[in-house]
Amino acid sequence: MAGFSADWLALREPVDHAARNPQVLGAVGAHFAGKPSMSVLDLGCGAGSNLRGSFAALPDRQHWTLVDYDAGLLGRARETLSRWADEAREQGEELVLAKDGKTITVDTRQVDLSKDLEWVLGWQPDLVTAAALFDLVSKRWIERFVAVLTSLKLPLYAALNYDGRERWKPAHRADAGVHAAFRHHQHGDKGFGPAAGPDACDLMAEAFRKSGFAVSTGDSAWLIDERHGPLRDMLAQGIADAAAETGHLDQALLADWLAARQKATNALVGHHDLWARPV
Ligand SMILES: C[S@@+](CC[C@H](N)C(=O)[O-])C[C@H]1O[C@@H](n2cnc3c(N)ncnc32)[C@H](O)[C@@H]1O
Repeated sequence: MAGFSADWLALREPVDHAARNPQVLGAVGAHFAGKPSMSVLDLGCGAGSNLRGSFAALPDRQHWTLVDYDAGLLGRARETLSRWADEAREQGEELVLAKDGKTITVDTRQVDLSKDLEWVLGWQPDLVTAAALFDLVSKRWIERFVAVLTSLKLPLYAALNYDGRERWKPAHRADAGVHAAFRHHQHGDKGFGPAAGPDACDLMAEAFRKSGFAVSTGDSAWLIDERHGPLRDMLAQGIADAAAETGHLDQALLADWLAARQKATNALVGHHDLWARPV
């Protein structure tokens, strides 16, 4: 199973929020407009960034169930959400938050989505969502996931699905080789079988269309510059570590690439957002 550090998730949060595709999020909001309240299930919630990035588009009263297999991140989500809210209190196991005129209740549950997927979807929320999750899952898991959402007629908002694009400036002679090694690593098993990696969004879109869902997607690339130095440096380190694990690259060349990337002036990391609803 892959482990995600809270520091990495905190660094990516502002860039994730800025990158979200406004048309896709607007379409999700329009679907629920007029409803006084709704329930949301957030898969692979990490420290709760997806709630903070989506709540403003959704009805005034929201109940979120945050699911992750990492108990440390679930604890971090509760702390971070309590600090982020205008007001926060515990009510039994639930967190009750007030933020920008909205009331948001939050439950956190420790669940391994490679095993207990059907169980959590059986809670039948109004909306299933996830951010930066689906590159980890396998093609088979996506088929299983779409089959359950189809049988329960549940819509999905999937934000920030890595799509394989990566451009760094200035260019380096090892860019193509490092990128190829990283893409190879992306398909390794992250606990769900061979990972879909950058193909996840296309695979989901195709499976949902076959199931008769209306599907829309939109670009949500990260645009990184020198203001995002710590994120850029950690991203470059993560890519270099993944590339090194494949054993496909000369170590000295990889070290030179990493040093150059930690001084890069710009980077684009491609993502796509997806909204799929039963019709
Ligand atoms: C890249 S992080 C994204 C976190 C969060 N959605 C965000 O946008 O910041 C992927 C998350 O998926 C969770 N995850 C990975 N495998 C999982 C599994 N088998 N079951 C439940 N959660 C899992 C990780 O613990 C991590 O929190």
